[in-house]
Amino acid sequence: MVRWKAILLAAVVAAIGENTRADIPTLKDAYAHDFQIGVCISTPVDKAYPPQELDLIARQFNEATPENCMKPDAIEPSENQFTFDEADQFVAFCEQHHMAIHGHTLVWHSQTPPWFFKDGDKPSSRELLLKRLHAHILAEVGRYKGRVHSWDVVNEAIDDGTHLYRNTKWHKIIGDDFIEQAFRFAHEADPSAELQYNDYNIDSGPKFKKALGMLKALKEKGVPIDSVGIQGHWIINEIPYPEIDKAIGEFNKLGLKVNITELDIDALGRTYKGADINGGPRLVRTTRPSTRPAVNVPTLLDREAVQYAKLFAIFHKHRDAIEYVTIWGADDGRSWLNFFGGVRKNYPVLFDRALQPKPAFFSVIGVVAPATTQPAK
Ligand code: GLA
Repeated sequence: MVRWKAILLAAVVAAIGENTRADIPTLKDAYAHDFQIGVCISTPVDKAYPPQELDLIARQFNEATPENCMKPDAIEPSENQFTFDEADQFVAFCEQHHMAIHGHTLVWHSQTPPWFFKDGDKPSSRELLLKRLHAHILAEVGRYKGRVHSWDVVNEAIDDGTHLYRNTKWHKIIGDDFIEQAFRFAHEADPSAELQYNDYNIDSGPKFKKALGMLKALKEKGVPIDSVGIQGHWIINEIPYPEIDKAIGEFNKLGLKVNITELDIDALGRTYKGADINGGPRLVRTTRPSTRPAVNVPTLLDREAVQYAKLFAIFHKHRDAIEYVTIWGADDGRSWLNFFGGVRKNYPVLFDRALQPKPAFFSVIGVVAPATTQPAK
């Protein structure tokens, strides 16, 4: 068994190339005077990645967000049964490599076990759900007090349609103040942690207006909120640059830091404009393989590189407002966009499947170091 595992690992290592280019600049050094460059990490860290990829992660990035291991279903699958092993290992890996840790996420409509919302055969009361939320947040945030620098306290609470709040069990059972309560609990658990509201599409259109109003109200009420996370799951050729520029400025004027928390570019495009992981079926219906145009990959990667550079130019302009920009995946093969609404070979991040830097990597570095060009192969 062990031998087979070794052979399998050797095959994976061979498939991804011999090394991960120590000759290229690093994202974290290029942006060292501006903001941290983060990456989303899968767990268990030691099994999810071959050694070369861990090496690439440690070399290129100085901030990290766990993809799944700190979500409610991973941490407390049943009431008072906490499973911290993967999160502990993730935290230890980040500390070993001097990467700032961003915890993700305490309150969300997705990846949250049903027991939170049930009391026997009946729905939980507001009191019971608040009690459970308090216990969950105190246990998780308390465990990593002083080690996890910041937390996504509430994820994706704003409605994609005409309502202010998304229709979730959190909102239905607790009411409008579920967000405020969660932030107060997190502050109680670690008063020095930076507490963040995180969402997609809040940089433009009606969700921007709703987010601005909601965040302003939270600040005015004295809720301990420090930052807003613009997820940044953008779509190629449809990135709303002027709106992103404006949104960062407006959120910052409220006295909040603004972070780009889940950056990727859907290089193939899609009809469904949201990033709700439950929005997948809507995507499948509109992107049947037979109706998709053939992809010219080199052209696509060049176009993507230009669009990444435009984004980073905006982030750089707002560097005093931004603490970190997190890329949602270390290499293209790991991205959720290969599976969102159906299986597609997508090209959303800065390294390719062989762990080699893409044109977008060099264009991102080029924003702050214009002399950097892609070395000849
Ligand atoms: C949302 C969540 C993330 C992740 C992505 C898809 O943006 O916040 O945790 O699940 O969807 O990878």
